[in-house]
This record gives sequence, structure tokens and C-alpha cells, in this order.
Amino acid sequence: MYTPELLELIKRVEATRERRLDEEFPLLSADAKQELLEGFHPDYKDEVFSELRVGPSKGERTPTEYARVFEAYSGVDPDGFDTSEVDFDVDVLIVGGGGAGAAAALVAQEQGANVLVATKLRLGDSNTVMAQGGIQGADKPNDKALVMDAPDALAWLEKLGVMFDKESDGTMITIHGGGTSRKRMHAARDFTGGEIMKTLKDEMLNRDVPLVEFAAVYELLTDGDRVTGAILYNMETQEYLIVRAKTTILATGGGGRLHVMGFPTSNHYGATADGLVLGYRVGAPLQYLDTIQYHPTGAAYPEQILGLLVTEKVRSIGGQITNVEGDRFVYELETRDVEAAAVIRECLGRKKGVVTPSGQPAVWLDTVVIEKKLGEGAVKARVPAMYRQYERFGIDMAKHPILIYPTQHYQNGGLEINDRCETPVPGLYAAGEVAGGIHGTNRLMGNSLLDVVVFGRRAGAAAATQAAGIKTAGGLGLDHLKDYHAALKAAGVEPTNASPMLLPEYRRAATVERKIELLA
Ligand code: FUM
Repeated sequence: MYTPELLELIKRVEATRERRLDEEFPLLSADAKQELLEGFHPDYKDEVFSELRVGPSKGERTPTEYARVFEAYSGVDPDGFDTSEVDFDVDVLIVGGGGAGAAAALVAQEQGANVLVATKLRLGDSNTVMAQGGIQGADKPNDKALVMDAPDALAWLEKLGVMFDKESDGTMITIHGGGTSRKRMHAARDFTGGEIMKTLKDEMLNRDVPLVEFAAVYELLTDGDRVTGAILYNMETQEYLIVRAKTTILATGGGGRLHVMGFPTSNHYGATADGLVLGYRVGAPLQYLDTIQYHPTGAAYPEQILGLLVTEKVRSIGGQITNVEGDRFVYELETRDVEAAAVIRECLGRKKGVVTPSGQPAVWLDTVVIEKKLGEGAVKARVPAMYRQYERFGIDMAKHPILIYPTQHYQNGGLEINDRCETPVPGLYAAGEVAGGIHGTNRLMGNSLLDVVVFGRRAGAAAATQAAGIKTAGGLGLDHLKDYHAALKAAGVEPTNASPMLLPEYRRAATVERKIELLA
């Protein structure tokens, strides 16, 4: 429900709508983009970053919130922790129950490996399930080398049961994402990730893939420089579980819940960069972790959905971004870094944004133009999940524009891997958002769903193949942790912080310390 003040402001957006309908908005020149990014994108601000003082990427910068979890001690005491009682003895341990983990598990098991999937929350609780707009794939006859695995990945998903949007003759419907010159975005309306994750999850359950839920990875185990398994922490019983594994795949997703510079996030509750920290501690270097993707259109109002994704698809099908005057200020399908920086500049630099009742800066995303361009009912038909997201709060996107602001969405960088998803640490693989290098510093829409399927499958296949050639995993040691703790100590890092974080902390400090002031 909009307040009377916001309804008043909406009149200005309505007043310019007719004029905007056929307006061609120019793309920015390369120089203008660079100036905009340098002025307003958080990746270009020195104060966002800290230099890492320990580990394989020592000397490189990451956002300070990430540096804090890398420069933290393990909750496990490497001198006192007993790993002699093994709870699970497997060929391939897959840590993470999102898209990459599920794809890896299905393929590794198909190859005959004895697998175990361990997931912090429930199977499917992940950013994959929250992905909306689509999955890229070059599967038209005129497509060549780009994303060579994509057509096969899409065909695999279809065979498992994913229902992609199609023309009446069976051709896949494809649309543009921001920054693209070809239409390669395939979707299941605006719940593409949900559709994919549901299918992978069903397949795992149908095939009885061994699974432990609410079992977060807490530390990796090593023998010399090789990863030989992991300590899991049961979030319900607070017990530790020891897994011995010939190969281990980290598929733990990203770190949106670290809230870089206090940004809201579109991410899943469990996105606390756990796998990234553990992989780094055993020696896997980082790639491109000096860049974070802020999705230009996170929900800015109402407060209850602050930061949740408003899919880029809304702009792909014609939604327009305007300032408080109802004027467009950026072409809606610029790449995400440029689009996000333009929104920030409009609000904080030019002061032409709207301020919500809770003080959140925002600009309008005019969704009503979609109805004008595509016909009545188009919003509900094309982006039904978005429509419901707002309808719950008494806002009809087909009749009123919505308020948006950039939200922390994706970790462009991560652990270094090769094309088989091997990290440089023997026995350790990584797939999905925890891995870095695939998208450079600026991922395009739809390439993360593609990434989790393509690299999840590659990781599953490679880890199973390698495990088949290994007789026993080896010892279950924590020497790497002794070394890491010693390095932290030598760098002067006090043992005040522990990581992995496992879950974000949203309680006020006073509440955590149980010092709540009683109301009189
Ligand atoms: O806007 C979106 O639907 C997001 C897609 C993505 O990050 O790939």
C-alpha cells in the first residue's frame, strides 16, 4: 500500500508516461560509463576494501566485510579436536544443496561414485531457488562457440523436467538481458531458478542421493596438502559430524549476507561465504574478489521486502526507470554495474530520487508501461512472481510503478578453479558462486544459473573420476588450521572473530549480550 505522499509523487511518473512510451534512450559512451562507475559504483571506492594480511591471496583486496571472515580464527581447536570417529566415509562429499551441489551430486552418482550431499539448511535452500529472470544459453542455429556447454545443460534440465517458456511450435522463447546483443535468456516465467531447483531436488530425492540437511561445513580436513573430508556442524543438534571423502566439492554459494557497505541483499539467508573461507584456509587462492555485483533493481519499498530482487526481466520486457520527476536517466539494459551506478548517482549525487518513509533512497521502476506496450494483463502474465510479491502489500504493479534501489546480488569472484572445477588444492573442487574467474568482474544476467548447472555437472564428473582412482582418502588432520592460525597471530590478528559465519546476525548488539532495556 502506498502512502498518500508516495501516491502524490506517482502522479509525476504518470504525467510523463505517454511521452516515454516511444522514447529511444541512448546507450552511454565508454567514457561516460567509466566516469559514472568511478564516481558512484562501490567497486571503485577505496574505502570499501581491505588488503588481506594472510593466506594464499595475501596482499590482494577484498571488500572489508569479506576480509573480516578471511581474517578470523576457526571455531575448531586444531590441537584438541578428535576426528577419529568417522560418521560418513564417501567417494565424493558435496557441500551445498543449491543448484551447483545438486547438479554435481546427480552427475557424480551417475558415474558410480558413493556420494554425500551436506547442506547447511534444507536441500534447495539457496540463491538458485531465488533466481528469477532466466538462464542464458546459446542454443539457436546461429550461435557458435560461446558457452559451449549451455545447449547440453538446457537439454539436460528439460529432460529432467524443467518447463521452459516456449513458442507454440516448441521453439525456446529467448529475450535480452542487460548488456547483451543476442537474445539468449531462457526462462520459466520469472521463477526460473525455482523451477530448476525444484526439478533437481526431485531428481535427487527420486534417486535417493544420500543427503544430510542442517549440516553446515565447519572445517575442511587435510592430509598433507590434500583435502580428505570435512567437519560438519549439525545446526539442530549442535553435534559435529566427521566425513572422510576421496574428493570434496564446495558448492556453498556466495556471501550476499555479509552486506558489503550496509547494502541490502537479494540473497538467501545462508549466503555467508562459508565455503569461500574454508577453501581459502586450505590454500585455494581467490580470483576477482575485489568486485561485487549490485543488482540495479532491488525492492526499496515496502520495508518488509527491502533488497529482494525485482528481476531484470521487468526491464527486458519494457519496464522503465525514472527519477522523481518521471524522467528516464539511463537506458534500462545497460550492464548491471553501469545501471546500478546510475541509480546511485540519481539518488545520492543528483538528488533526484525519492526517499521512502523509512529513509531509503529509491527511484521508480515504471511497470505500467509494460501493460501499455504489451497489452492489458501483460505484467501478471509475464512476471507473475513479481506481481504476487507486490500484491501481498497492496501494490498493483500493473497500475502503479514500484520503488527500487541497488541490492548486493552476486559475488563476481571466488576460489580459483580450472575447467574441471579443480582448485589448486589437491582433492578440492569448487562450483557455482563460490568459484571465481568465470564471469570476470561483471556477470551478465542468466549466467549464474547456467554456471551452477554447467560447472556443477563438470565438478561432479571430475570429482567422481578422480575418486575412482583413489584407494583411501588419507588421514583426517587439521595441520592447515595450525598454520593458518599461526599466520593470523603473526599478522597481529586478535582471536576475537570466528568464521565460517554460518548464519548472519541481525539482532542488535544489546540483544545479543542479553542487555535488553526493559520498557517502563
Ligand atoms: O534479474 C534477475 O532475474 C537476475 C538474474 C541473474 O542474476 O542472473
